[in-house]
Amino acid sequence: MAAYDEIVAMDRESVLHPFTQLKDFASGKSGDPVVMDSGKGVRVRDMAGREYIDGFAGLYCVNIGYGRTEVAEAISRQAHRLAYYHSYAAHTTEELARLSHRLVKMAPGKMSRVFYGLSGSDANETQAKLVWYYNNLLGRPRKKKIIARERGYHGCSVISGSMTGMSFYHDHMDLPVAGILRTGVPHHYWGAEAGESEKQFSARRARELEQLILREDPDTVGGFIAEPVLGTGGLIPPPEGYWPEIQAVLRKYDVLLMADEVITAFGRLGTPFGCHLYGMEPDMISVAKGLTSAYVPMSAVLVGEKVYRVMEDGADRVGAFSHGYTYSGHPLGAAAANACLDILERENLAGAAARRGAYLQKRMQAAFAQLPIVGEVRGVGMLAAIEFVADRGRKQRFDPALKVGARIAKAARDRGLIARAMPHGDILGFAPPLVMTEAEIDEMVGIALEAVQQVMGELPAVA
Ligand SMILES: Cc1ncc(COP(=O)(O)O)c(C=O)c1O
Repeated sequence: MAAYDEIVAMDRESVLHPFTQLKDFASGKSGDPVVMDSGKGVRVRDMAGREYIDGFAGLYCVNIGYGRTEVAEAISRQAHRLAYYHSYAAHTTEELARLSHRLVKMAPGKMSRVFYGLSGSDANETQAKLVWYYNNLLGRPRKKKIIARERGYHGCSVISGSMTGMSFYHDHMDLPVAGILRTGVPHHYWGAEAGESEKQFSARRARELEQLILREDPDTVGGFIAEPVLGTGGLIPPPEGYWPEIQAVLRKYDVLLMADEVITAFGRLGTPFGCHLYGMEPDMISVAKGLTSAYVPMSAVLVGEKVYRVMEDGADRVGAFSHGYTYSGHPLGAAAANACLDILERENLAGAAARRGAYLQKRMQAAFAQLPIVGEVRGVGMLAAIEFVADRGRKQRFDPALKVGARIAKAARDRGLIARAMPHGDILGFAPPLVMTEAEIDEMVGIALEAVQQVMGELPAVA
């Protein structure tokens, strides 16, 4: 095995790391790469021997926790039996057929078929193409624009990156492309007018959506993409009444609801899918992360009956469905996903996430809500966030140059806890593995509190 210093040097010289300041990394100014080495349960260990509680389950994906040998063995069994075959032109494997059948059965709404990819980004890209395909088959070639929300996160590829609603994902990359419209983020804390209730705020967001559709012409608007709980943009649960109001508008103008459940599917919110929690009836659903708990890459788009029927009925006219990847339905991914879903069902992880999630939310409120630099503590299920502000009374953000969120995340990491400084604003995010126990939640919250107190003490205006 290569020596630690050699690994660091090889990495620094050859890996192009996502979301990393390239010059600071290349020069060593931002420190060495963290060489992750092993994991068990909710903990990971790096090659320098440091152990961390992973309060973010990697990137909200290792829902069943690290080191589940049952999944490793399922992957290995499949690799020995048949490591690869494609799913083009009606080829399949036993694992893929079984997985698709159970996904259709467990999903909300009226799902019909499952299309496979490798990432959340490609799943959302597929959804966009299906909106266009569907409307072309229906003879509505103008009904193609897709509405996405400010601060929504849908990935980084060309269309998914365009649907993502944060400008730093677009800058210098020539995004967004044309045809993507933007509507407001449903964040009551920042967005509500004085005295406006959550319900009133939700109704206003729905009115704004309707006005946007009317302004653009309903005959040109094909889809609306959203996460049930807005994720990377700030971990923001919808305000009361939001989804019923929004869905009423979409139905009125025959706009497809494209659910992005890349974070929320498979138990994260305490229900099998996020749509179950909010009564959403999507036309298509993207899943990834929790599908295989990231043991191998796999994503999927669940295609609802309404869309699929048009696709099948159009087949005599347009021929084969010409979309797919070499690795669509990869047997190792399917084997991993089946093993993960076995664990999810056997251990009732969605139910556990509901119970432990309630505990997590209670502990977060108790520890952080009254601190002078905390504006809001929010969350649902095993998803939680603390938003830091310079002035609680006047709701003023910190000067971004102070990097409060990033400093708190670093202080937590120095103490052995990984929590994520969310990229928009000063927000510390938590999305631990769903198997995290109450004792581990206590430990996580305790370390996070020490980290917040440390940075609070360093901020002159507050200390
Ligand atoms: C809601 C949501 N959609 C899509 C994506 C993109 O997934 P990927 O990074 O696998 O492309 C993410 C990633 O965090 C996500 O949170």
